[in-house]
This record gives sequence, structure tokens and C-alpha cells, in this order.
Amino acid sequence: MKLKELESILQDCEVFSDPKIQFEQYPTTAHLAARMLYTADTVYDDIEDKAVGDLGSGCGILSIAACILGAGYNVGFDIDPDAVAIARENCEEFETEVDFVLTDLSADVCALDRFKGRLDTIIMNPPFGTKNKGVDMVLLKKAVETANRAVYSLHKTSTREHILKKAKEWGVECEVIAEMKFDVPMMYKFHKKKSVDIAVDFLRFGKS
Ligand SMILES: C[S@@+](CC[C@H](N)C(=O)[O-])C[C@H]1O[C@@H](n2cnc3c(N)ncnc32)[C@H](O)[C@@H]1O
Repeated sequence: MKLKELESILQDCEVFSDPKIQFEQYPTTAHLAARMLYTADTVYDDIEDKAVGDLGSGCGILSIAACILGAGYNVGFDIDPDAVAIARENCEEFETEVDFVLTDLSADVCALDRFKGRLDTIIMNPPFGTKNKGVDMVLLKKAVETANRAVYSLHKTSTREHILKKAKEWGVECEVIAEMKFDVPMMYKFHKKKSVDIAVDFLRFGKS
């Protein structure tokens, strides 16, 4: 499948109907989701026939993209039942099979623990930790501990040095695949502008 074709299919993915700021719910655009998954698949061979997990799966766009690209198994994890309900509806529309697990990934013990060593690849657009300080790093560490092959994640470019240092501590290779613009539309009451672009890094954490 071509990148443009994947992006065009993903445009039909429904987003949060009632986004919750406490969970930093910002949907990944079809443009970014397509590029993330297409790169993970075509450049690194981390998607097709692989068991893929999606941490903070929201409305499911990353999992759906993985499914379309031929992942062997897909599972998404999110704290919000409303988001999981939308994700399930999206999967029905797209005729894609994804398991969804409702869990608080920041808790010391959570449903992700059962998947340790059973997922090849984890993809995620986690909360950036602006409302819930440090949650981005908690989810990232868990992802790195869980995946057998690789973790793909989006993080604010301003946190790059910190993340590179942490990756070294955790003994994984971190590659900045691309610098991207994350378009945040006017979604919440406190938003003053029609949309704002945030500089984000698309990162790959590889395990050897
Ligand atoms: C930035 S949104 C990304 C959603 C989706 N992955 C996407 O790409 O459109 C972050 C997601 O993480 C979820 N989330 C936030 N805190 C969480 C937690 N502690 N445990 C599990 N999911 C969480 C939110 O509900 C939200 O769906």
C-alpha cells in the first residue's frame, strides 16, 4: 500500500467526541499516523506480521494503521472508556481487528504487565506530561520494558535531551527518525488560537 493511500483511508477515523484534558486527549492526524506507521513498516520491518501494542490508544488511529499494514496482532490500551468505545466503533467501520484493554498505564500494576515479552512493537502518541507531570516518561519506560523489538513514540522536541539520556540509562538505542509538527486544533476552552503547531520528535527505541 502507498503512503498516500494509507493517509487517505485514515482520514475517516472518528476523533474524541468529548475530549478530556486531564488525559491530554489530542488525536494524531491521519497525516502523522500514516507516516509513523508507514516508516515503521517499510524502513524497519516492525509492523507486518508483528504483534503490535498501542499505549494510550485513544480513538485507535495508530492501531488501525498497523492493522491495515498487516500487523499479526493488535492491542490498544487506554484509561478512558469513552475513547475505547470510539476506537471500537472505528475498528468496526474499518473492518480491522484490535483488542482494547481499559487500564491506567501509569499505575504501578496495570494490565500491560501481562503483555511483557508478548509484543514485538509498541507504537504510541502518549500524553506529553503537561497536565500530569512525568506521565510521558512513565509510559515510555513501560513501553521499552514490554516490547521485544522496538518502540515508536512522539514526544515534544524540547524534551529530546532528557529522553536520549533516559534511553541510555535503560540500555536502548534511541533514534530521532523525524521532527514533525503536531497540529493541535482548538479543542479545549482554554485554547485561544484556531490551531497551534507543536514541534515533536518521532522517536524509535530499538532493542538489540
Ligand atoms: C495524545 S492522546 C493520543 C490518542 C491516540 N493514540 C492517537 O494517536 O490519536 C493520549 C491518549 O492517552 C490516554 N491516556 C492518558 N493517560 C493515560 C493513562 N494513565 N493510562 C492509559 N491511557 C492514558 C488518553 O486517554 C488518550 O487517549
